[in-house]
Amino acid sequence: MTKIPFNRPAIMGRELEYMQEAIAGGHLSGDGPFTRRCNALLEEALGVPKVMLTTSCTHALEMSALLLDIQPGDEVIIPSFTFVTTASAFVLRGAKPVFADIRPDTLNIDETHVERLITPRTRAIVVMHYAGVGCEMDEISSIAERHNIPLVEDNAHGLFGRYKGRSLGTLGSLATLSFHETKNFTCGEGGALLINDPQYAERAEIIREKGTNRSRFFRGQVDKYTWVDLGSSYLPSDILAAFLCAQLEAWEKVQSVRGRVWHYYYHNLRDWAEENMVQLPTVPDHCEHPNHLFYLLLPTMEQRQDFIAYLKAHDVASAFHYLPLHLSDMGRRFGGQPGDCPVTEEVSDRLARLPFHNSLSEEDLERVVGLVRQFRVAD
Ligand SMILES: Cc1ncc(COP(=O)(O)O)c(C=O)c1O
Repeated sequence: MTKIPFNRPAIMGRELEYMQEAIAGGHLSGDGPFTRRCNALLEEALGVPKVMLTTSCTHALEMSALLLDIQPGDEVIIPSFTFVTTASAFVLRGAKPVFADIRPDTLNIDETHVERLITPRTRAIVVMHYAGVGCEMDEISSIAERHNIPLVEDNAHGLFGRYKGRSLGTLGSLATLSFHETKNFTCGEGGALLINDPQYAERAEIIREKGTNRSRFFRGQVDKYTWVDLGSSYLPSDILAAFLCAQLEAWEKVQSVRGRVWHYYYHNLRDWAEENMVQLPTVPDHCEHPNHLFYLLLPTMEQRQDFIAYLKAHDVASAFHYLPLHLSDMGRRFGGQPGDCPVTEEVSDRLARLPFHNSLSEEDLERVVGLVRQFRVAD
């Protein structure tokens, strides 16, 4: 029996052709024709005023921390159930992460907990749309506005997802995307910063170009370029942008292929899940998600471990997901204690993700579902 991997990056067809074109064109560094094509495609498809490709989502988050002028001692509210760099990008500037718990249904930051975590030192609220299902942005935005605190969306999972008809990534002052190989669209390693609040656009360009005004120089707006601000090297090569461009141009196809996988799992596991007290993903009616991942919440951690081991024994890879950040070594240094975010702690123990990629065949899906349905959660 062949193995079914958890993830397999998809090749959409024109990647090598575009990379060859980039090489033949002679512009290999950043901000070449393919970078501009990717930026424009995303601006148009999402309705974002300014998109900048970056070397990763982590780097786009680091840029956000620099743009918001995060200083030592500032506090940033972040869900505990997210990837490390949603927090570490701000901690790198000296911020203290203040961890919020998540909702038990969507596994997104619990909007009813956010306001009580605000102090006079709060400088940002960072949300992460888990599995590309939108956080409750109306409530969160109104809290942020009331306290005049900028909102950042870590939208690593949610490119082309929507909340109340609006694209995820257009709802915060700043938002970030990931093009890591585990994401719906990839160039191996890559990301983007989405700038919705135009006050950040000019400085973002400088920060991304190592703290220099090189972009203005290339546009002929200054006659030499120099060091003008903080910054680093956050600009990806145009060769990578060429690869990404081939993926993004096929975005509707990618979404429909992945949609087939998500719906297959959902419809064929619903009755089994109910019988076995397993929770399937919740997608509120006002959210459209981009079919990024499919998870199950088993009743206990032991059952989750058994489930992953059982699938592995049948050559099917599945995976747990984030460990609670407030209980990580770094989280504890900031005072994190067991019980601070009880939903995060429980969900992290009980969650398993099924294989999810574009090349899962009908046969693969039948095999995964057949195995899952034979797994009896202990009585
Ligand atoms: C929610 C979230 N944020 C940020 C990242 C970091 O993305 P990158 O690898 O592009 O830096 C990830 C990566 O998996 C993620 O899942």
